[in-house]
Amino acid sequence: MKIEFTPLRDEPGATGALALFAFEDGPLTGAIGDLDRATSGMVGRALAGGRFTGAKGQTLDLVAPHGVEIARVVIVGVGKKADFDERAAELGAARAWQTVKASGVKTLVIRIPGASPALVAHAALGVRLGAYRFDRYRTTEKAEKKPSVTEVRIAGDKPAAATKAWKTLSTLADAIILARDLVSEPANVLYPEEFARRVKKLTSLGLEVEILGVKEMRKLGMGALLGVGQGSVRESQLAIIQWRGAKNPAASPVAFVGKGVCFDSGGISIKPAEGMEEMITDMGGAAAVTGALAALAGRKAKVNAVGILGLVENMPDGAAQRPGDVVTTMSGQTIEVINTDAEGRLVLADAVWYCQDRFHPRIMIDLATLTGAIIIALGKDLAGLFSNNEALAENLLTASKASHDHLWRMPLPPQYEKQIESRVADVKNTGGRQGGSITAALFIQKFVNGVPWAHLDIASTAWKPGSTVPTIPNGATGFGVRLLDRLVADHYEGKSA
Ligand code: BES
Ligand code: MN
Ligand code: ZN
Repeated sequence: MKIEFTPLRDEPGATGALALFAFEDGPLTGAIGDLDRATSGMVGRALAGGRFTGAKGQTLDLVAPHGVEIARVVIVGVGKKADFDERAAELGAARAWQTVKASGVKTLVIRIPGASPALVAHAALGVRLGAYRFDRYRTTEKAEKKPSVTEVRIAGDKPAAATKAWKTLSTLADAIILARDLVSEPANVLYPEEFARRVKKLTSLGLEVEILGVKEMRKLGMGALLGVGQGSVRESQLAIIQWRGAKNPAASPVAFVGKGVCFDSGGISIKPAEGMEEMITDMGGAAAVTGALAALAGRKAKVNAVGILGLVENMPDGAAQRPGDVVTTMSGQTIEVINTDAEGRLVLADAVWYCQDRFHPRIMIDLATLTGAIIIALGKDLAGLFSNNEALAENLLTASKASHDHLWRMPLPPQYEKQIESRVADVKNTGGRQGGSITAALFIQKFVNGVPWAHLDIASTAWKPGSTVPTIPNGATGFGVRLLDRLVADHYEGKSA
């Protein structure tokens, strides 16, 4: 699908659709008023005949309107005029796309008069994100099931300036879509080495990428990460991505660590069959970190940033790790493995230690599809935020509000550490059903070494079948990419770096 910026007077033509935004305070004014006159009052009659008020999320779809050479007109409610911001532009444009995408029209013109080039570019972002679909493996899908719209033109006051604003924003869209693609790929295609290969390709954006294999990780003493992967025929990998954009090349970096379990069968503590296929998404943390680094490189962010991905596959096998095994981590601490399905924290134990040991980051944030319990606690729209640092937690919550990657703060109560005390080792990898997301976070904290740290449990938000937000189609959300990009832009870039 092609996106272009055109002057206001751009018309979709007889086989195209025209989308206009309506404000709650006067839906028949401006461009909609003009269209009403051109259609001899048809728009006004359609509005009067329904419940359309211009409220956010409403749409009015007019087929073959009288008096104009346009196949379809869609009027999208975007709320109050004073509240028309970047988010409203994205949602309105994505809503327009969703309304006409399969209607048979080839072209969609979204006309947005009186909006800044930045807002117009955000409308394009809404379309790009809303039009996402993972159809790589659909070879027999009938043409009439595919989206009919192949060209979207956003018509505004200053198309050249909007095109320029879109340049940087489109790299953010690319980064979110990269993360979505990684999450959507099946595990027979996207195993640790293939993930690493895809990360390697990002050197074209100016990122530096190193890959460690089993041999190197063994030398480093990463017994916890390696224990998870030892039952798989696929070799475990550690990917290290660096973006050096700060004025001072030696400035301490911000660091992101991602859980990259390419498939989580549970291992010997095998999961029930139902829904197990969803565990191809258990690398959503690593995908978000990859996307975030791509976004920073894409807009040449003035920051030094590091991404560490722990890439493994958790499988049952004669060589697999057993419940009861004791593993030694890179930190030297030992772990009793009670349940091989609590594998994400084992991967993170070594990945976060490596991150701190090598990079001494100014902040460290890990992202992981870590616990089913976070879905029970927070539902599907909020990821859990755990942090040992008030300033970092606050910064994340502000970035969450701005990016609409929603977070909710969760506690790290020291008295719950009892639940993960082991009889034989320094710690055990499960703490029972009660407070399952909390004890998982407390476990990771044992491997945090004085660094301002946050843990985002994104098991709730990385994958959303039946999403109702028009910029997030069914499936992979790309959760975390925008959040981290925004966090860096607002708090760790430029002067503060
Ligand atoms: N990858 C899962 C968590 C998960 C569940 C992600 C649902 C996305 C959707 C994780 O590795 C896991 O299996 N966690 C266990 C932990 C338990 C064994 C302590 C869980 O949540 O049941
Ligand atoms: Mn698991
Ligand atoms: Zn897992």
